Amino acid sequence: MTRRLGILTGGGDSASLNAVIRAVTTRAILGYGWEVMGVEHGFRGVVERRAQRLDLARVRELLPRGGTILGASNRSNPFRYPVRIEGRIEARDVSDQALAGLAALGLSDLIAVGGDGTMEIAFRLVERGARIVGIPKTIDNDLAATDTTCGYQTAVAVATDALDRLRTTAESHDRIMICEVMGRNAGWIALEAGLAGGADAILLPELPYRVERVAELCAGRASTLVVMAEGARSTGGERSVVRAGDATRPEKLGGAADGLAGKLAVLLPELDTRVTVLGHVQRGGAPSAFDRVLATRYGVAAVDVVAAGETGVVVVQRGRRIAAVPMHEVCRGTKLVDPDGDLVHTARALGIVLGD
Ligand code: F6P
Repeated sequence: MTRRLGILTGGGDSASLNAVIRAVTTRAILGYGWEVMGVEHGFRGVVERRAQRLDLARVRELLPRGGTILGASNRSNPFRYPVRIEGRIEARDVSDQALAGLAALGLSDLIAVGGDGTMEIAFRLVERGARIVGIPKTIDNDLAATDTTCGYQTAVAVATDALDRLRTTAESHDRIMICEVMGRNAGWIALEAGLAGGADAILLPELPYRVERVAELCAGRASTLVVMAEGARSTGGERSVVRAGDATRPEKLGGAADGLAGKLAVLLPELDTRVTVLGHVQRGGAPSAFDRVLATRYGVAAVDVVAAGETGVVVVQRGRRIAAVPMHEVCRGTKLVDPDGDLVHTARALGIVLGD
């Protein structure tokens, strides 16, 4: 019987997921003669047994296309599955259903593309006998086990382009421009886009900022470009949360840049401030060349790892090499910006305001 491989895209989407699907499908069919099934909407498709057959014709045009043809979901954890009970949404453990779903779909192995949440689910299912190999994806680039993740470089490129555009309009009007980018715990997008886009201040979740310091910077200049992560907070302040998380869905952040703009308006009433929230623009659209290559390398490597009989591992990039590491390493710890690291040092050396 032909071996059947499944692939799913879990968590929030990011650019280059379709490039991964193309690479996995093509390698599995051309390299090993396997059947490939695309499981729909992350682990929801495993629980609800929803999958589509992937063949070479279906994936041929996918390389530059944003989103994921399989759909994604960050509310489909089988260990905390949202179930409607008497009009309320409650979390239930349906992991037995997930394991049965993998068998019912005829999947000998599954490739799960996702971030820390997806990898934790995969690891717990592997502990219960499922055969899963992971591919790291998140625009936040906050997985400790890998140098980089699918979608991150595209998000940095989008944010850099936005900063370039905001700089010129800020200069035309002598304004303070604050650009809020994604990054709930880790400020990688803000830091790298800030460096690439020539920001005057870069505000990160890892380095609480002093509002007075930002005001002082703005007061001494005709125009100021500030990039801040959505998870940034002032010293002694809290992150800006618009909806608390619960058992089935994560906390929703929002309003960090508006909060800063409000405080600057009080301290510097004579200056004009405008806010741009980039939001999901950073996740959608065509992947960068870097992400296309990374996604393709990860896809091929993951299929080769499955063919070698491995399970419970994640393909990662270390230096210029792709390697496979145990899944529990990927679940362990978030990769945060190091306040004493090279990138922060570089930014400070240019006089960019970070934190205080
Ligand atoms: O984790 C990736 C991420 O892009 C975060 O930076 C952001 O806070 C979150 O997803 C937003 O997710 P949602 O799709 O639920 O709005």
